[in-house]
Amino acid sequence: MTKRLNKRILITGARGFLGSAIMKRLLVLGYELRLLIRPHGGIRDIDGYLMGNLEDTALYKSISQNLEIFEGDITVPFLGFDEGVYKRLTYEVDEVFHCAAATNFESQRAVELMDINVHGTENMLRFARSGKLKRFHYVSTAYVAGRQNSVVFEDKLVNEPQFNNEYERTKFLAEKMVVEYAKSAGIPYTIYRPSIIVGDSKTGVTCRYDNLYIFAKVLSNIENGCVRNQRGSMNKFHKRMTVNDQGVPVAIRVPGDPNAFVNLVPLDYVADAITELLRKRETVGKIFHIVNPNPPTVEKLRDLLISIMKIKNIDLTIDGEMDGKLLRTAERLYLRRTRTYYSYLFSKLRFDSNNTTAALRDTDIHCPAINYKLLKILLNYAISHNWGESNTVFVKKSVPYEKVL
Ligand SMILES: NC(=O)c1ccc[n+]([C@@H]2O[C@H](COP(=O)([O-])OP(=O)(O)OC[C@H]3O[C@@H](n4cnc5c(N)ncnc54)[C@H](OP(=O)(O)O)[C@@H]3O)[C@@H](O)[C@H]2O)c1
Repeated sequence: MTKRLNKRILITGARGFLGSAIMKRLLVLGYELRLLIRPHGGIRDIDGYLMGNLEDTALYKSISQNLEIFEGDITVPFLGFDEGVYKRLTYEVDEVFHCAAATNFESQRAVELMDINVHGTENMLRFARSGKLKRFHYVSTAYVAGRQNSVVFEDKLVNEPQFNNEYERTKFLAEKMVVEYAKSAGIPYTIYRPSIIVGDSKTGVTCRYDNLYIFAKVLSNIENGCVRNQRGSMNKFHKRMTVNDQGVPVAIRVPGDPNAFVNLVPLDYVADAITELLRKRETVGKIFHIVNPNPPTVEKLRDLLISIMKIKNIDLTIDGEMDGKLLRTAERLYLRRTRTYYSYLFSKLRFDSNNTTAALRDTDIHCPAINYKLLKILLNYAISHNWGESNTVFVKKSVPYEKVL
């Protein structure tokens, strides 16, 4: 049997990539959890998730007794609960862990981003203030810092920078609101700012296949297309890739700065760090960067990907000035699939993480280095899970770089 702590935490986003990892850790520690889950498929999903992740059935049974699930939606009044349920929870819950967010980068989804990330967070703050005053944990992002090219500190709220996308802007607005609202309502708050989260460093497990994975997946698609092409088994996709019929590698220029930093953090590090920080009293009123203190450069990451994936048929260069250049077929394919992430390949942001380092000093929670071994674990998992989906990509004739973006 797990022990039972007399602390009830309401979690949002518990079915998501990070929220589910934190939920599992809190359950194992003995917290009583209340989950706010959107109605579609929710409850059985969570049960299945826990069963699938906790092979020990006895442990599953004992911890699932500490779990109550509520269908709701953070964007609607009373979080979509019956008024009676809402009222009961405002007194029953001791702390709120607000992890739910819209996490897409597409500008056409700006309204949804604003609604979920800003208005949804306001509703959660209102909940934290109602009934019993509750401690409020908010998962932000290190990229509220936007396009700055400097060191970003934890203690200060970032001055509104230029943003790479609406996701960053809405997370910035939400974070600012958390600090101002919490201060004026007397809510004890803690903010966690992870950088770019990838799979578990020991197992590779992930349920998100964006950022790093998309770059690797498209690289793999093109490489495999080329290989099969040389063997003569062509299909629609591979016929387009015949630029290397003479055995010359396909040249692909990727927009970016070779010396920019890609701040990747494995899921287990982020979840362990946040779980540890949220249990400490002295983390109240502070912001924590959950980042990689030694992030790889774009060039280093490119080299590691090429080496791990044994890429032979592609000559991948990083090009700081792509405007006005005509794209080849393979380049167009590559860029179209990865375009939402390019601004991050120019980022020179450095994140100071003194608060996190100090608060975790006496623990063995450290961000692992993003090296060959770790990336291989991540990529092996992704490849063995078909990058989370089955996908066929088709490309058309060459177009200018600007038209793809
Ligand atoms: N992934 C990263 O690299 C990264 C990096 C830095 C910060 N973060 C932050 O970490 C948090 C978790 O991100 P993630 O990667 O785990 O995202 P995710 O996998 O997309 O999960 C987001 C969760 O939010 C829930 N949600 C969205 N809209 C909701 C609504 N209206 N009402 C209730 N729940 C709603 C989703 O519910 P459904 O299951 O119903 O869809 C999902 O469970 C976010 O705040 C994100 O900004 C993530």
